[in-house]
Amino acid sequence: MPTENLFISHHPLIQHKLSILRDKRTEPKKFRELIREISVLLAYEATSDLGLTSVAVETPLSTARCCQLTEAIGLVPILRAGLGMVEGVWEMMPGAEVWHIGLFRDEHTLRPVQYYNKLPIAPTVQVCLILDPMLATGGSAVATADILKKWGAQRIKYVGIIGAPEGVARLHEAHPDVPIHLAELDERLNEVGYIVPGLGDAGDRQFGTA
Ligand code: PRP
Ligand code: URA
Repeated sequence: MPTENLFISHHPLIQHKLSILRDKRTEPKKFRELIREISVLLAYEATSDLGLTSVAVETPLSTARCCQLTEAIGLVPILRAGLGMVEGVWEMMPGAEVWHIGLFRDEHTLRPVQYYNKLPIAPTVQVCLILDPMLATGGSAVATADILKKWGAQRIKYVGIIGAPEGVARLHEAHPDVPIHLAELDERLNEVGYIVPGLGDAGDRQFGTA
């Protein structure tokens, strides 16, 4: 499995929160809080190379040379499970646009089926952060990166929480230019395409629909 362009966070706060997120006893309210908190921390790391421009700011005392973001950012949550990753990250970059992509995995073929995409004709952002907690077979992530590239997105980053080696390899093969940011890389997929040990179904656990 390629490790190039794969960034696993070893941050103690992320690792601690992940241990509670995985726990089958964690209720949906706590699960949603953790998804939100881990996403903020991962997005902080994933955005460390965003472009800056120098600006002069008048403080009450003098002029300070400061930096401001230059690129327009798009947050692209994959429905449903990516929804829980939006709010916290958005608070850190309130000027970002949010473009939802609706995909579900066909439970037999495990292929992504698209049901929502309202992207306008021309791209409106320079950097897209795909948000989805689970990178399993990689089908949903690859389909979303395909959609964004067709749209004209120049820079795409994937921010997930748990990945399987199969999903990382597939996303990397299809889109080697897309960095993959995860809290953890797990062992494998099981026979029905779930990540092991994983955390179960990220959508169901957030929305209480298990
Ligand atoms: C989950 C998850 C990803 C996808 C990952 O969504 O949120 O989008 O599976 O699997 P893949 O890497 O094999 O494509 P799911 O299809 O369960 O839809 P949901 O979030 O609406 O429940
Ligand atoms: N989607 C999930 O929510 N969990 C998995 O383990 C795989 C796909």
